[in-house]
Amino acid sequence: MQGKNVTQAVSNVNEIIAPALTGFDVQNQSDIDRALLALDDSPLKATIGGNATVATSLAVLHASAADSKEPLWQHVADKYDCTPSIPLPEIQIFGGGAHAGRRVDIQDFMIMVPGASTFDEVMEVTNEVYFAAGDIMQKRGKLAGVADEGGWWPSFNSNEEALETLVSAIELAGEKPGVRVVISLDIAASEFGENGQYRLALENRALDSSGLVHMLGTWLDNYPIVSIEDPLGEDDPEGMLEFTRQFGDRVQIIGDDYLVTNAPLVESAVAQGTCNAVLIKANQAGTVTEAISTFRAAQKAQWGAVVSARSGETEDVSISHLAVGLGCGQLKVGSFTRSERMAKWNECLRIEEILGRDAFVGGQPLAGTWWNQKT
Ligand code: PGA
Ligand code: ZN
Repeated sequence: MQGKNVTQAVSNVNEIIAPALTGFDVQNQSDIDRALLALDDSPLKATIGGNATVATSLAVLHASAADSKEPLWQHVADKYDCTPSIPLPEIQIFGGGAHAGRRVDIQDFMIMVPGASTFDEVMEVTNEVYFAAGDIMQKRGKLAGVADEGGWWPSFNSNEEALETLVSAIELAGEKPGVRVVISLDIAASEFGENGQYRLALENRALDSSGLVHMLGTWLDNYPIVSIEDPLGEDDPEGMLEFTRQFGDRVQIIGDDYLVTNAPLVESAVAQGTCNAVLIKANQAGTVTEAISTFRAAQKAQWGAVVSARSGETEDVSISHLAVGLGCGQLKVGSFTRSERMAKWNECLRIEEILGRDAFVGGQPLAGTWWNQKT
């Protein structure tokens, strides 16, 4: 079963969670979420499990939206006093790291289309770039399949070859890199580093923390990158501080493994000066209330916030509604194939039909990066 079977989670919902929640008002999300967390006092919520708690918490949110006779995104906006908007997607073109048999060390090579004026324009441009990348890789003998989150599974000789190929794909799609289409990376450095020592297996070389900061800095100089996630390991706050100090005024620096959708960790990163944005994964937070309090902590610090799916996913589209309802500005759900990914993009298209094309955020959430400064 490799821990992927849901039988235990379902039995925890039916036997432990359901009796504890009977009698609550479904509109009272924060009390319900508090009661859910109180059922599991283990540090990693391992007794009941994050999937059981987040599924219940999201079911409560859906039920309260139905009770209020509102679509979910509208309900989130009303309940949490936010202005809804259609987010800017980050879409994976190549998968790497743990998501593609570690064929390249870096986990996600993505594009963003902040120069688009509507969400459906983003979808069209992404489609062109995605298939252009596939064509180039096939011609060069570099295509090894499709990775975990739907991006191409590459057979490159270096990590930088992925960036070069991505730029070629953007050009083959008829775009000038850095104008309408830009690059976003998830380094996921914890996957190949420990205690400030990093090992790029593909290139058979080791880097210390400042070596990795330097290598990423040259990438920022040479490629149109506007966003970079987990550039250093979760156990390397000094490296993260140095990276933010050097590059925080020209690129979005997202903490995912580094901040684990945890509001107190965001607050201390703000105080320390590490990162300038946070990834919001509902199932990493455990409940809707915890995910939203992490979003609030980011908002308070004027940080960016990116609602995100996981590498293992379902066709559930709640996070599309969360991203729209909170008006957080950005959404990351993997690539441009596979039903569990497309379901979430398609839901945004459906919401766009209701909210209107003007509700697309465009370049706004990237304020502070070079892309915005130049436009
Ligand atoms: P995960 O990856 O779901 O495997 O944590 C997603 C990400 O790192 O953004
Ligand atoms: Zn990540």
